[in-house]
Amino acid sequence: MTHKFDFLVIGSGIAGMSFALKVADRGKVAIVSKNELEDTNTFYAQGGIASVTNSTDNFEKHIEDTLNCGDGLCVNAVVERVVREAPAQIKELVDWGVKFDTDSRGSFDLHKEGGHSEHRILHHKDSTGAEIQKSLIKAVKNHPNISVFENNFAIEIITQHHLGQKVTRQTPVIECYGAYILDEKTNYIHTFLSKITLIATGGIGTIYQTTTNPMIATGDGIAMVYRAKGTVRDMEFVQFHPTALYNPNERPSFLITEAMRGYGAVLRTKNGKEFMHKYDDRKSLAPRDIVARAIDNEMKNRGDEHVYLDVTHKDAEETKKHFPNIYQKCLDFGIDITKEYIPVAPAAHFLCGGIEVDKDARSSIHRLYAAGECTYTGLHGANRLASNSLLEAIVYADAAAKHAENEIEKLKHQENIPNWNDEGTSLPEEMILITQSEREVNFVMSSYVGIVRSNLRLKRAYDRLEILYQETESLFQRSVVSKQICELRNIINVGYLVITQAMQRKESRGLHYNIDYPEKNKL
Ligand code: FAD
Ligand code: SIN
Repeated sequence: MTHKFDFLVIGSGIAGMSFALKVADRGKVAIVSKNELEDTNTFYAQGGIASVTNSTDNFEKHIEDTLNCGDGLCVNAVVERVVREAPAQIKELVDWGVKFDTDSRGSFDLHKEGGHSEHRILHHKDSTGAEIQKSLIKAVKNHPNISVFENNFAIEIITQHHLGQKVTRQTPVIECYGAYILDEKTNYIHTFLSKITLIATGGIGTIYQTTTNPMIATGDGIAMVYRAKGTVRDMEFVQFHPTALYNPNERPSFLITEAMRGYGAVLRTKNGKEFMHKYDDRKSLAPRDIVARAIDNEMKNRGDEHVYLDVTHKDAEETKKHFPNIYQKCLDFGIDITKEYIPVAPAAHFLCGGIEVDKDARSSIHRLYAAGECTYTGLHGANRLASNSLLEAIVYADAAAKHAENEIEKLKHQENIPNWNDEGTSLPEEMILITQSEREVNFVMSSYVGIVRSNLRLKRAYDRLEILYQETESLFQRSVVSKQICELRNIINVGYLVITQAMQRKESRGLHYNIDYPEKNKL
């Protein structure tokens, strides 16, 4: 069946939902989400959203902190724009019903996180993402022009390729006409035609064994755009969060927010000794790349599987008030954080690179915009400053909406798009072929493409992934399409992009550390 919408939004996190709300007065919008609407990275965000909101802080400081963290690769104009637009975008979130914590005088209660020179993180206790997600869902459900398709999985974006034309990376104008979407309830693949499509599919954390990301983070949008010959860049810059709760039986790993270190928590090795002073003057509050590498180094040197985060010296009631979810979660796990150290280890958390977009959030494919974690905008450079990603998502969703609104009148739906072709396919023989390959991807990425890399490890990862790629493509060609096989294909595609782009970077910078090139190149 063919559905026609003015705007097709793939993804129901902060990027997709805020874009949908902004364009919905200009046309019919479809939001497609592969699980329930709230199953997003956005929902899990703890620390909050960075913005200059008080007089001790200023834009210059937020800009400087972002640039310092990005280790020379941020695009200055992008940083400047995002930081300056932050207060206006925060106001829109508040208008949609998001409640940020305030102090007794009614000003925002601001947290501090690694790499920030000021307290500037707006938050809702330690569950900011859930508060944002719930408010946006409410606003979306109340808008008559927005149709929501939950449990609908985007398989491929539709381009001239589907009209039988040859499309290569050299094709001067590639156009997006919509996407093929698998309805998981009926197993039917629908053709969604749109005048404008927004990819807002989030990150890639699940390509690693240990990640803070929910299981939706399989890099689908990035893989789809790459297969459609769009531009994807800076994939080597994968951010590992230093402090995920150490529990090998839990996937995703539960995050212990960096705001806890901003509040005064300190890192200790298993014998109770502080160690961050050996690595950086800012100690436990250094930027994430430095802290994650320091923890990794201490764990490897000592043969330990985790370090500790210690917040026991802080006032117990204050700790419970600021971090109620973390307190409860750890208590359920058998740890009273007001009295005992928290076992933590780094986990894959965020992707700085992705689909390259311009200042209007346009990808290299016409009629295709992208926003949020699936994109490369130039904001993060080689390392993202904490709590700058929710901000990037709303600023770029806004940019996309403003540009798309002006384009929509000029565009028509493409005719003659064929239905999804599943000739010659049958149900996959054995699910184990898929689940085992997923585990192998996780193993390869975590063993060879983690916090510390080397030429040998990257080459080994490349060779292993090549075998998995060949096997999976062959399985995909002969199988009836399912979400599972598509996600496997996608994690292999994005894993390949991380590895190959890491191989091309012959230096160590920000989140990419290669022991064969420990120095930075001159910029
Ligand atoms: P997401 O919120 O991940 O949404 C992606 C959407 O795409 C989902 O709806 C998913 O179902 C859908 N989707 C994906 N593939 C398909 C497909 N094939 N078909 C259909 N739908 C699809 N950032 C901060 O700035 N501050 C924080 O405090 C913070 N804390 C974090 C804590 C945790 C535990 C995690 C995991 C991340 C945190 N981040 C934080 C990062 C931030 O949450 C994310 O970068 C941001 O929410 C991404 O938003 P998004 O809209 O781009 O994607
Ligand atoms: C955290 O709360 O530590 C996560 C913040 C972020 O990823 O920006």
